Formats: sequence, C-alpha cells, structure tokens
Amino acid sequence: MAGVSTPAMAAAVNAGGGLGGIALGAGDADAAARMIAETRERTERPFNVNLFVHAPPMPDPVREAAWCEALRPAFAAFEAQPPDTLRTIYRSFAQDDAMLALLVEVKPAVVGFHFGLPDGTRVAALKKAGCLLLASVTSLAEAQAAERAGIDMLVAQGYEAGGHRGVFDPHAADDRLGTLALTRLLAMRTRVPVIAAGGIMDGAGVAAALALGAVAAQLGTAFIACPESAADAAYRAALMGEGAALTVMTRAISGRPARCLPNRFTLLGETLTAAVPDYPIAYDAGKALNAAAKVRGEGGYGAQWAGQGAPLARALPAADLVRAIAAEMRG
Ligand SMILES: Cc1cc2nc3c(=O)[nH]c(=O)nc-3n(C[C@H](O)[C@H](O)[C@H](O)COP(=O)(O)O)c2cc1C
Repeated sequence: MAGVSTPAMAAAVNAGGGLGGIALGAGDADAAARMIAETRERTERPFNVNLFVHAPPMPDPVREAAWCEALRPAFAAFEAQPPDTLRTIYRSFAQDDAMLALLVEVKPAVVGFHFGLPDGTRVAALKKAGCLLLASVTSLAEAQAAERAGIDMLVAQGYEAGGHRGVFDPHAADDRLGTLALTRLLAMRTRVPVIAAGGIMDGAGVAAALALGAVAAQLGTAFIACPESAADAAYRAALMGEGAALTVMTRAISGRPARCLPNRFTLLGETLTAAVPDYPIAYDAGKALNAAAKVRGEGGYGAQWAGQGAPLARALPAADLVRAIAAEMRG
C-alpha cells in the first residue's frame, strides 16, 4: 500500500503470521533499496515487494494546463496556485532498469505487480533470481495474460477493493467484477493459485475467500488504522467516521480509478468537467493540492484510499490484527 504501508508494518504482519508487504512503486531504486534493507532488519521472514507496471503516460500539455486551471479555485481557497507544469512522478517498472537491477541483486522472495505486467525479459530475470511473482488482475482476460506471462500467483482484485484499481488499461471497458465472482471465476478458469483481494476485513472474509477456491487473501484497508501505518490523522479520522460506508471510485486524484473515502477531493472530482491527465501526471497536481490544503489545516484533500469494508477497520497493532483474523477463522 503505497503511502500507507511501512517496513514496520510489513514486519509486524510477518510477526503475526501473515506475509507483509512494502510498496516500491512510488519511489526510485535507491528508495527501494533502503526500504528493503530496513524491512530485512526488522524481519527475517519473506515479504512481498510491490511495483507499479502502468503503461507510461502520454504527456499532453494542453490537457494538463486545463486540468490545473480547473483546480485553480481549489488551490486559491488555500492561498496557493496550481503547479505551472505537471510531472510524471512515478516511473513504471516497465521502464525502470535500475529497479530491475536492484531486485535481481537483492532477490526479494515475493515481487508483486499492479496495473499491468512486465515484459518477458523482466519476468525471466526475476524468476532466475528466485522471486515468486504476483500480479493484480481484475478480469479473466487480465488473469489469462498474467498466466501466459509466467506469473506464479494471481491477486484477484474485486471492485470493492480500496486504492487503485489494478486494471491494465484504465481507458478500456471495465466489467467491475466483485471479489466473490472474480475469485471463483479465476479459481475455476486458470491454473495458477489465486489470492482474493477486496472488501476482506476479518476471519469470516478470509474463510469465504478460501471457500471460493483462493489459496490466500490480501487485505489492505484492514491495516490502514494500525499504528504502524503511515496514514495521517485526517485519514484515520475519515476511516473511523461515517463516510467509511460510502467509499467512491474516483480518477480525479491520480488519473486512474481508485476507491477512496468520501472527502473534499472526491467531491471536487464530481464537479470537474475537464479531462483528467494520465496517471501519474494528474497525481502531481493532486499531491500539490493536498499539500497546500494541509498547510492550512485542511486534511480532506488526501488520497484517502479505502475499500468497501472500511467500516470494519480496527485500530489494532498489525501483528495483533493478523492473530485476531486467524483466530476468527478458527471460529
Ligand atoms: C491505502 C491503499 C494503498 C494501496 N496501494 C497499493 C499499491 O501500492 N500496490 C498495489 O498493488 N495495490 C495497492 N492497493 C490495493 C491492494 O493491493 C488491494 O487490492 C486492496 O487493498 C484490497 O482491498 P481492501 O482494501 O478492501 O482490502 C492499495 C490499497 C489501499 C487501501
């Protein structure tokens, strides 16, 4: 969970008996090296490192300028101005040779991909390094592409899921399959093990995923309120508030559809008619608006991602939460 997961949280999840994860997609290879080293200092057990494999964006200065203009009144409310130009703030793993070289060198046990699949050379290099490869998929077609690419396990991400939807092409038609249907479909129609993700918050949810034929469940939202998470106070308050039951899918914050707690930014997104720039170019403006708002004490412009299970979030230490979920599964 980029922006939320931390080495401390990954290690705590491991200590509780789960498989912790860290997100490398929002930084470069140097940041990734530091994060992997810190996580290894905190846990001897394997953990998952996650990368963004989005199609590189198409910069469009006219569209980006229009988007910044559309955001200008929101910036003005905090006596700030939108950026003059927007940058591509994250490099896709598809183009990041330094990241590949790092991973081949440090050999993480598990490497997961979001938003797409790396090319055959990258897959082969990581497999040769002994990494187990995961990919988020949202449809049978994406799952079959992942299977053909040699991915070892599929993360079946349902529409309920918090955060960015892992769709490979954000402009293609989206069938918006829920976790239940998608997990069962992939368990029946693919030969690779399936990990269910989306709306799973407790032992009953994990047990349901296993009953559908998944070998495991991946939980995100359940861990946002843990003390080890990097979520700020406004995010935690929103997660524990009444809006948690009303999560919305929005492109306005980052340029890709993502499920978010309802806040000032999702509300603004519903009023804007300008075309949203490609991910992650739009995210440069989104992060700038959040920073300007936070300086003035307004926390409602953050990327407060959360899934439909958000009202069931528990503010427990991550290791205790994993143990509680395991106990709930035992009944
Ligand atoms: C705050 C947050 C950040 C996320 N960041 C990532 C990420 O960096 N990479 C990724 O593959 N998935 C990310 N996801 C999606 C999760 O992998 C997973 O699909 C989702 O959390 C499952 O649904 P749930 O949130 O209802 O448990 C994120 C989810 C949340 C809630």
